[in-house]
Amino acid sequence: MHIYPDASAVVRDLLPDEPVILNRPQAAARAARFFVEKFPGKSLYAVKANPSPALLKILFDNGITHFDVASIAEVRLTREAVPEAELCFMHPVKTARAIREAYHQHGVKTFSLDTMEELEKIVSACSDEAGNPAQDLRLLVRLRVSSEYAELSLASKFGIDLADAGELLQVTRQHCDWLGICFHVGSQAMSPHAYVQGLERVRAAIADASVVIDMVDVGGGFPSIYPDMEPPPLEDYFSVIHRHFYELPIAYNAELWCEPGRALCAEYSSLIVRVEKRRGDELFINDGAYGALYDAAHVDWRFPVAALEDDLRDPLEEFAFFGPTCDDADYMKGPFWLPGDIKADDYIEIGMLGAYGAAMKTGFNGFGDAEQVDVADEPMASLFRGDRADPRASDNVVSLR
Ligand SMILES: Cc1ncc(COP(=O)(O)O)c(C=O)c1O
Repeated sequence: MHIYPDASAVVRDLLPDEPVILNRPQAAARAARFFVEKFPGKSLYAVKANPSPALLKILFDNGITHFDVASIAEVRLTREAVPEAELCFMHPVKTARAIREAYHQHGVKTFSLDTMEELEKIVSACSDEAGNPAQDLRLLVRLRVSSEYAELSLASKFGIDLADAGELLQVTRQHCDWLGICFHVGSQAMSPHAYVQGLERVRAAIADASVVIDMVDVGGGFPSIYPDMEPPPLEDYFSVIHRHFYELPIAYNAELWCEPGRALCAEYSSLIVRVEKRRGDELFINDGAYGALYDAAHVDWRFPVAALEDDLRDPLEEFAFFGPTCDDADYMKGPFWLPGDIKADDYIEIGMLGAYGAAMKTGFNGFGDAEQVDVADEPMASLFRGDRADPRASDNVVSLR
């Protein structure tokens, strides 16, 4: 496959009418190696963040052997892309048919749950034809924890309350030889303290249940880097998690897992869009709320941007974007900083869209197409650049505008 040096080279070559997704395999490989080498346990990749088969292979080839899948479609896709991977079905609400297919056809043994009903469903769906229960299940009870340090909350939908967790852990223990507890602190957690809170809750749940715990999974939530969101180094998260994990009352050989989505793939992709029209400080571009810019529209997420024309001379100004569909809601208020003389037909690169970017694209209004190409340059920002003299210093931003 042809690898372009950067976004400008793609524009020169293709003059694209549709948005173009730029992938950086080297950035995803670097993120994978970072987690494999530095996280003090096992790192699963949360497929939902970006299910591209090419990305799944890159992560696997760089040491990520376990994958968090949330639907039967993700099970099938991941099994096909990386046949030797270990798949873990971490959605706490699954259909019996999905569980049955995952267990009997795709070798999935690890399931999460947060209710007695889900436990019964898993046990029954994994039994053999004679009704004998499976002997090799690995079950995780998901605890509800706070999302107060995260930019996107995951606190209200899933997870059992601490008050009820003890009983569910005890009953689940009777159905498996390997019992874990998992939680999710919310996406883009801006402080390592989020995990301290989560692990404190795990400690309370274990004390209440008095059961042997074989594994603790601290979930996803590890941040990436965006305008106005520069998190502490990931090493700080890892050391805090390590310390608090070792203080838990768990089996001496208990495992520690995490399930990053965003942190493993945010740097993988950026997007080229074209300005179709300018109206004052509003730019009408060809991707938006129903495409890769879902978060920019729906939760006002700011992504770094760069104009790709050489002849723009004016200082940077603040712009908002309209996407291509006919909806008023197809609007991204930003602000996005671009040269003041930007105009229709100019191209813009929008960075840090590897996570929850391409994965969110729909075909609404007929606007969903995007070519994908590989590029060789650095992502607009990185938490993983190896050239930091001091990993504590926050000199890891390449550019955030
Ligand atoms: C169960 C589970 N694990 C992991 C993730 C990945 O989270 P993040 O992308 O914030 O790391 C998610 C995201 O929704 C999730 O639901």
